[in-house]
Amino acid sequence: MMRIKTGVIGLDPLLGGGFISNTVNVILGSTGVGKTIFALQYIIEGLKNREKCLYISFDMDVDDIVKTAENMGWDIKSYIDDGLLKVGKFIVEDITFLNNELMNFIKENDNNSRIVIDSFTPLLSTLDYDVRKDVNWFFEQLKRVGTAVITIEEPLSGNLDVPSITLPSFLCDCLIHMKKLGYGEVLDRTLRIVKHRKSWHAEGVFPYRIFKGLGIVVDSKHYVEQTMKRMTIQDIFSEEELKSIPAELLEKIKIALENRSYCDEDVKHLMRWVVECYRESTKS
Ligand SMILES: Nc1ncnc2c1ncn2[C@@H]1O[C@H](COP(=O)(O)OP(=O)(O)OP(=O)(O)O)[C@@H](O)[C@H]1O
Ligand SMILES: [Mg+2]
Repeated sequence: MMRIKTGVIGLDPLLGGGFISNTVNVILGSTGVGKTIFALQYIIEGLKNREKCLYISFDMDVDDIVKTAENMGWDIKSYIDDGLLKVGKFIVEDITFLNNELMNFIKENDNNSRIVIDSFTPLLSTLDYDVRKDVNWFFEQLKRVGTAVITIEEPLSGNLDVPSITLPSFLCDCLIHMKKLGYGEVLDRTLRIVKHRKSWHAEGVFPYRIFKGLGIVVDSKHYVEQTMKRMTIQDIFSEEELKSIPAELLEKIKIALENRSYCDEDVKHLMRWVVECYRESTKS
Protein backbone atom coordinates (compact mmCIF):
# COMPACT_ATOMS: atom_id res chain seq x y z
CA MET A 1 0.00 0.00 0.00
CA MET A 2 1.34 3.39 -0.93
CA ARG A 3 1.99 5.74 1.97
CA ILE A 4 1.63 9.51 1.75
CA LYS A 5 3.97 11.43 4.05
CA THR A 6 2.05 13.87 6.25
CA GLY A 7 4.82 16.46 6.43
CA VAL A 8 4.21 16.72 10.18
CA ILE A 9 7.46 15.91 11.98
CA GLY A 10 7.21 12.81 14.18
CA LEU A 11 3.73 11.79 12.97
CA ASP A 12 4.43 9.32 10.14
CA PRO A 13 5.91 6.58 12.35
CA LEU A 14 2.76 6.72 14.48
CA LEU A 15 0.61 6.09 11.39
CA GLY A 16 2.67 3.16 10.18
CA GLY A 17 4.46 5.30 7.57
CA GLY A 18 1.94 8.02 6.72
CA PHE A 19 -1.57 8.25 5.30
CA ILE A 20 -2.70 5.55 2.87
CA SER A 21 -3.08 6.93 -0.65
CA ASN A 22 -6.54 7.79 -1.93
CA THR A 23 -8.17 8.15 1.45
CA VAL A 24 -9.92 10.89 3.41
CA ASN A 25 -8.15 11.83 6.64
CA VAL A 26 -9.81 13.99 9.27
CA ILE A 27 -8.03 16.36 11.64
CA LEU A 28 -10.43 17.16 14.47
CA GLY A 29 -9.68 19.89 16.98
CA SER A 30 -10.88 22.98 18.75
CA THR A 31 -9.95 26.48 17.66
CA GLY A 32 -6.23 27.27 17.79
CA VAL A 33 -4.92 23.69 18.07
CA GLY A 34 -3.05 23.97 14.77
CA LYS A 35 -5.39 22.43 12.17
CA THR A 36 -4.55 25.00 9.52
CA ILE A 37 -0.84 24.64 10.24
CA PHE A 38 -1.22 20.86 9.88
CA ALA A 39 -3.03 21.35 6.57
CA LEU A 40 -0.27 23.66 5.33
CA GLN A 41 2.48 21.23 6.34
CA TYR A 42 0.67 18.47 4.46
CA ILE A 43 0.43 20.62 1.34
CA ILE A 44 4.03 21.86 1.53
CA GLU A 45 5.34 18.29 1.84
CA GLY A 46 3.70 17.61 -1.52
CA LEU A 47 4.77 20.86 -3.16
CA LYS A 48 8.39 20.12 -2.25
CA ASN A 49 8.11 16.97 -4.38
CA ARG A 50 6.27 18.79 -7.19
CA GLU A 51 2.95 17.07 -6.43
CA LYS A 52 -0.26 18.78 -7.45
CA CYS A 53 -2.09 20.30 -4.49
CA LEU A 54 -5.51 21.77 -3.86
CA TYR A 55 -6.43 23.95 -0.90
CA ILE A 56 -10.14 24.49 -0.40
CA SER A 57 -11.43 26.91 2.17
CA PHE A 58 -14.70 28.56 3.10
CA ASP A 59 -13.52 31.33 5.32
CA MET A 60 -10.02 32.18 4.12
CA ASP A 61 -9.16 33.67 0.75
CA VAL A 62 -5.86 33.17 -1.07
CA ASP A 63 -4.32 36.15 0.66
CA ASP A 64 -5.24 34.90 4.15
CA ILE A 65 -3.75 31.49 3.43
CA VAL A 66 -0.55 32.96 2.00
CA LYS A 67 -0.21 35.16 5.08
CA THR A 68 -0.88 32.31 7.50
CA ALA A 69 1.92 30.37 5.79
CA GLU A 70 4.18 33.43 5.84
CA ASN A 71 3.69 33.78 9.60
CA MET A 72 5.09 30.25 9.91
CA GLY A 73 8.03 31.14 7.68
CA TRP A 74 6.72 29.28 4.64
CA ASP A 75 6.43 30.60 1.10
CA ILE A 76 3.52 29.13 -0.82
CA LYS A 77 2.96 32.07 -3.14
CA SER A 78 5.53 30.88 -5.67
CA TYR A 79 3.71 27.53 -5.95
CA ILE A 80 0.40 29.31 -6.55
CA ASP A 81 2.05 31.45 -9.21
CA ASP A 82 3.44 28.46 -11.08
CA GLY A 83 0.11 26.59 -10.86
CA LEU A 84 1.21 23.66 -8.71
CA LEU A 85 -0.95 24.81 -5.82
CA LYS A 86 -4.54 25.76 -6.51
CA VAL A 87 -6.46 27.62 -3.86
CA GLY A 88 -10.24 27.84 -3.92
CA LYS A 89 -12.41 29.92 -1.67
CA PHE A 90 -16.06 28.98 -1.69
CA ILE A 91 -18.92 30.80 -0.06
CA VAL A 92 -21.04 28.38 1.89
CA GLU A 93 -24.18 30.52 1.68
CA ASP A 94 -23.91 30.55 -2.11
CA ILE A 95 -23.69 26.87 -2.69
CA THR A 96 -26.03 24.05 -2.21
CA PHE A 97 -24.23 21.14 -0.66
CA LEU A 98 -21.18 20.10 -2.67
CA ASN A 99 -22.26 22.01 -5.74
CA ASN A 100 -20.82 21.74 -9.21
CA GLU A 101 -18.35 24.57 -8.82
CA LEU A 102 -16.63 22.80 -5.94
CA MET A 103 -16.76 19.40 -7.63
CA ASN A 104 -15.32 20.80 -10.85
CA PHE A 105 -12.53 22.47 -8.93
CA ILE A 106 -11.69 19.11 -7.36
CA LYS A 107 -12.09 17.12 -10.57
CA GLU A 108 -9.76 19.37 -12.54
CA ASN A 109 -7.07 17.28 -10.89
CA ASP A 110 -7.16 13.78 -12.26
CA ASN A 111 -5.18 11.75 -9.77
CA ASN A 112 -2.60 11.59 -7.00
CA SER A 113 -3.29 15.10 -5.77
CA ARG A 114 -3.01 16.30 -2.23
CA ILE A 115 -6.29 17.89 -1.26
CA VAL A 116 -7.03 19.98 1.81
CA ILE A 117 -10.43 21.17 2.93
CA ASP A 118 -9.91 23.63 5.79
CA SER A 119 -12.43 23.46 7.25
CA PHE A 120 -15.18 21.03 6.32
CA THR A 121 -17.41 22.18 9.21
CA PRO A 122 -19.15 25.11 7.45
CA LEU A 123 -20.34 22.71 4.77
CA LEU A 124 -22.03 20.48 7.30
CA SER A 125 -23.31 22.93 9.87
CA THR A 126 -25.60 24.68 7.40
CA LEU A 127 -27.48 21.48 6.80
CA ASP A 128 -30.50 20.24 8.61
CA TYR A 129 -31.28 17.06 6.71
CA ASP A 130 -29.69 13.64 6.63
CA VAL A 131 -26.54 14.01 4.57
CA ARG A 132 -24.71 10.79 5.35
CA LYS A 133 -25.26 9.59 1.80
CA ASP A 134 -23.99 12.85 0.33
CA VAL A 135 -20.92 13.00 2.53
CA ASN A 136 -20.10 9.41 1.66
CA TRP A 137 -20.49 10.18 -2.05
CA PHE A 138 -18.30 13.28 -1.70
CA PHE A 139 -15.57 11.31 0.10
CA GLU A 140 -15.64 8.72 -2.69
CA GLN A 141 -15.09 11.50 -5.25
CA LEU A 142 -12.19 12.91 -3.24
CA LYS A 143 -10.49 9.52 -3.02
CA ARG A 144 -10.57 9.24 -6.79
CA VAL A 145 -8.66 12.46 -7.15
CA GLY A 146 -6.11 11.90 -4.44
CA THR A 147 -5.40 11.84 -0.73
CA ALA A 148 -7.37 14.37 1.28
CA VAL A 149 -6.90 16.05 4.63
CA ILE A 150 -10.07 17.57 6.02
CA THR A 151 -10.15 19.64 9.17
CA ILE A 152 -13.18 19.59 11.47
CA GLU A 153 -13.86 22.13 14.17
CA GLU A 154 -14.46 20.81 17.66
CA PRO A 155 -16.99 23.02 19.47
CA LEU A 156 -15.72 24.86 22.54
CA SER A 157 -18.43 23.12 24.55
CA GLY A 158 -16.57 19.86 23.89
CA ASN A 159 -19.76 18.14 22.70
CA LEU A 160 -18.65 15.81 19.91
CA ASP A 161 -22.01 14.14 19.54
CA VAL A 162 -23.27 16.33 16.69
CA PRO A 163 -23.67 15.29 13.04
CA SER A 164 -21.05 17.76 11.79
CA ILE A 165 -18.47 15.76 13.78
CA THR A 166 -19.85 12.23 13.92
CA LEU A 167 -20.59 12.00 10.17
CA PRO A 168 -17.11 12.74 8.84
CA SER A 169 -15.55 10.86 11.78
CA PHE A 170 -17.37 7.67 10.90
CA LEU A 171 -16.90 7.97 7.17
CA CYS A 172 -13.22 8.94 7.06
CA ASP A 173 -10.28 6.53 6.81
CA CYS A 174 -8.13 8.12 9.45
CA LEU A 175 -9.08 10.34 12.37
CA ILE A 176 -6.56 12.43 14.32
CA HIS A 177 -7.78 14.36 17.35
CA MET A 178 -5.71 17.38 18.34
CA LYS A 179 -6.19 18.94 21.77
CA LYS A 180 -5.02 22.00 23.61
CA LEU A 181 -5.57 21.82 27.34
CA GLY A 182 -4.47 25.35 28.14
CA TYR A 183 -2.41 24.32 31.17
CA GLY A 184 0.86 25.31 29.52
CA GLU A 185 4.02 23.21 29.76
CA VAL A 186 4.87 20.01 27.94
CA LEU A 187 1.50 18.30 27.86
CA ASP A 188 -0.39 21.41 26.83
CA ARG A 189 -0.90 20.21 23.27
CA THR A 190 -1.53 16.55 22.56
CA LEU A 191 -2.77 14.44 19.70
CA ARG A 192 -4.24 10.97 19.42
CA ILE A 193 -4.88 8.77 16.41
CA VAL A 194 -8.43 7.61 16.96
CA LYS A 195 -8.51 5.27 13.97
CA HIS A 196 -6.59 4.34 10.84
CA ARG A 197 -8.42 1.94 8.57
CA LYS A 198 -6.33 -0.81 6.95
CA SER A 199 -3.28 0.18 8.91
CA TRP A 200 -1.52 -0.26 12.17
CA HIS A 201 -1.35 2.92 14.25
CA ALA A 202 0.18 3.92 17.54
CA GLU A 203 -2.07 3.88 20.58
CA GLY A 204 -1.80 6.61 23.12
CA VAL A 205 -1.63 10.35 23.50
CA PHE A 206 1.36 12.22 22.09
CA PRO A 207 2.50 15.72 23.01
CA TYR A 208 3.22 18.17 20.20
CA ARG A 209 4.45 21.72 19.88
CA ILE A 210 4.30 24.35 17.18
CA PHE A 211 7.49 26.10 16.04
CA LYS A 212 7.83 28.78 13.44
CA GLY A 213 9.66 27.26 10.49
CA LEU A 214 9.20 23.64 11.56
CA GLY A 215 5.47 23.75 12.20
CA ILE A 216 3.92 20.97 14.29
CA VAL A 217 6.47 18.64 15.89
CA VAL A 218 5.10 15.50 17.56
CA ASP A 219 7.16 14.10 20.40
CA SER A 220 7.04 10.43 19.48
CA LYS A 221 10.75 9.83 20.15
CA HIS A 222 10.36 7.66 23.23
CA TYR A 223 7.54 5.63 21.67
CA VAL A 224 9.37 5.05 18.41
CA GLU A 225 12.56 3.99 20.20
CA GLN A 226 10.61 1.60 22.39
CA THR A 227 8.69 0.03 19.52
CA MET A 228 11.75 -0.36 17.33
CA LYS A 229 13.19 -2.69 19.92
CA ARG A 230 11.83 -6.16 19.59
CA MET A 231 11.43 -8.29 22.65
CA THR A 232 12.50 -11.89 22.27
CA ILE A 233 11.31 -14.83 24.23
CA GLN A 234 14.74 -15.01 25.89
CA ASP A 235 14.18 -11.50 27.31
CA ILE A 236 11.21 -12.83 29.24
CA PHE A 237 11.99 -16.41 30.28
CA SER A 238 15.13 -18.09 31.58
CA GLU A 239 16.58 -21.13 29.76
CA GLU A 240 15.18 -23.32 32.47
CA GLU A 241 11.68 -21.84 32.14
CA LEU A 242 11.73 -22.11 28.36
CA LYS A 243 12.28 -25.86 28.55
CA SER A 244 9.11 -26.26 30.59
CA ILE A 245 6.81 -24.31 28.21
CA PRO A 246 4.97 -26.50 25.68
CA ALA A 247 6.08 -25.89 22.08
CA GLU A 248 2.56 -25.03 20.96
CA LEU A 249 2.24 -22.20 23.49
CA LEU A 250 5.78 -21.00 22.84
CA GLU A 251 4.91 -20.56 19.16
CA LYS A 252 1.89 -18.38 19.97
CA ILE A 253 3.94 -16.22 22.32
CA LYS A 254 6.53 -15.73 19.57
CA ILE A 255 3.83 -14.54 17.15
CA ALA A 256 2.49 -12.12 19.75
CA LEU A 257 5.95 -10.68 20.34
CA GLU A 258 6.53 -10.07 16.64
CA ASN A 259 4.09 -7.19 16.81
CA ARG A 260 6.24 -4.13 17.22
CA SER A 261 4.01 -2.28 19.65
CA TYR A 262 4.52 -4.82 22.41
CA CYS A 263 7.90 -4.58 24.07
CA ASP A 264 7.40 -3.01 27.46
CA GLU A 265 7.67 -4.40 30.99
CA ASP A 266 3.92 -4.97 31.13
CA VAL A 267 4.22 -7.43 28.27
CA LYS A 268 6.90 -9.40 30.12
CA HIS A 269 4.56 -9.64 33.03
CA LEU A 270 1.61 -10.62 30.79
CA MET A 271 3.53 -13.35 28.96
CA ARG A 272 4.50 -14.95 32.26
CA TRP A 273 0.84 -14.77 33.23
CA VAL A 274 -0.13 -16.45 29.95
CA VAL A 275 2.09 -19.39 30.84
CA GLU A 276 0.62 -19.61 34.34
CA CYS A 277 -2.94 -19.58 32.98
CA TYR A 278 -2.06 -22.22 30.43
CA ARG A 279 -0.63 -24.48 33.13
CA GLU A 280 -3.68 -23.96 35.32
CA SER A 281 -6.05 -24.83 32.48
CA THR A 282 -4.20 -28.00 31.53
CA LYS A 283 -3.69 -29.23 35.09
CA SER A 284 -6.41 -31.82 35.79
N1 LIG B 1 4.84 31.76 14.72
C1 LIG B 1 4.30 30.89 15.58
N2 LIG B 1 5.07 30.23 16.46
C2 LIG B 1 4.54 29.34 17.32
N3 LIG B 1 3.23 29.05 17.39
C3 LIG B 1 2.42 29.68 16.54
C4 LIG B 1 2.90 30.63 15.60
N4 LIG B 1 1.87 31.08 14.89
C5 LIG B 1 0.78 30.46 15.38
N5 LIG B 1 1.09 29.62 16.38
C6 LIG B 1 0.18 28.77 17.14
O1 LIG B 1 -0.73 28.17 16.25
C7 LIG B 1 -2.06 28.47 16.62
C8 LIG B 1 -2.92 28.67 15.39
O2 LIG B 1 -2.89 27.50 14.61
P1 LIG B 1 -3.98 27.24 13.48
O3 LIG B 1 -4.34 28.51 12.83
O4 LIG B 1 -3.46 26.14 12.66
O5 LIG B 1 -5.19 26.75 14.38
P2 LIG B 1 -6.57 26.16 13.87
O6 LIG B 1 -6.75 24.86 14.61
O7 LIG B 1 -6.62 26.15 12.43
O8 LIG B 1 -7.60 27.18 14.50
P3 LIG B 1 -8.86 27.97 13.81
O9 LIG B 1 -8.95 27.61 12.39
O10 LIG B 1 -10.03 27.54 14.61
O11 LIG B 1 -8.56 29.39 14.04
C9 LIG B 1 -1.97 29.74 17.41
O12 LIG B 1 -3.04 29.84 18.34
C10 LIG B 1 -0.63 29.61 18.09
O13 LIG B 1 -0.78 28.88 19.29
MG1 LIG C 1 -7.79 27.05 10.95
